[in-house]
Amino acid sequence: MRILFYDLSSQAEPWLAQLRAAFPQAQVELWQSGAAPADYALVWAPPQQLLDEQTALKALFNIGAGVDALMQRRLPPGVPIFRIDDAGMAVQMAEYVCQAVIRHFRGLDRVQADAREGRWQQPKPLRRSDFPVGVMGLGVLGQRVLAALRVFEFPLLGWSRTPHHLDGVRTYSGPGQLNEFLAGTRVLVNLLPLTAETENILNGQTLSQLKPGGYLINVARGRHLVDEDLLALLASGQLSGATLDVFRQEPLPAEHPFWRHPAITITPHTSARTLRDESVTQIIAKIHRLQAGDAPHSIGGWVKTELRY
Ligand code: GLV
Repeated sequence: MRILFYDLSSQAEPWLAQLRAAFPQAQVELWQSGAAPADYALVWAPPQQLLDEQTALKALFNIGAGVDALMQRRLPPGVPIFRIDDAGMAVQMAEYVCQAVIRHFRGLDRVQADAREGRWQQPKPLRRSDFPVGVMGLGVLGQRVLAALRVFEFPLLGWSRTPHHLDGVRTYSGPGQLNEFLAGTRVLVNLLPLTAETENILNGQTLSQLKPGGYLINVARGRHLVDEDLLALLASGQLSGATLDVFRQEPLPAEHPFWRHPAITITPHTSARTLRDESVTQIIAKIHRLQAGDAPHSIGGWVKTELRY
């Protein structure tokens, strides 16, 4: 068996070592131009050349939850694609989104700014029922985030492409129900996959429908958001602020106005990181199942490639 690895954003050696330990008979290598045909490849944002050259793959593993970078490439026909299926990402996303919602709800940014100035200033308690939180994208991450938010008793809404039924969540689906979802939401959390349909979905027209004092938490992809529209809605007071973890260009360029905007909290694409041990263990288990002849669609994290970017 031959396994290739390509991810310029992570240290390759520990991944290679764990794969070699799991498959001592296999050749496990970093991809390079002209590499011999492999059975499996673990990739993050691979070059087109890798996908064109690797004609014997039994599966491709995307080393992350979002497959948009991969889906924008020409894919080898008929090769099943798997993405990281939770592997410790969902709990991280739940932590991150809960802290952002709570920080906003409790006015903790203001409290901290006051404290730095030596001011003892208690914020006025707000009514939880005035802070409905709406999550766009009801996959593994979206559902985990909603389950975590439920503990704090915010009214919860969810929107996704296809209908879902989730306990304690008012759910909406498809473009026809988007406006109703937005109109009932004050704190909007974006966890959608990036596709041709969802690119720029966070724009002036959609964001202006949020309840007064609307707040945006974008933890999916920068290209979901029209940056200028967010700035305009903040300037007009239609939105009260945003927490942004993802950006059109990463790292966020030094001159970008988001950095210095007083109502925007920036984090460096860190809401849910790929955890190497959990992820490699999951991929190894999937390779075992594929080798044993299990159908790809019966294995978690299988990507329906018709959802092309
Ligand atoms: C991170 O953004 C991921 O898609 O895993």
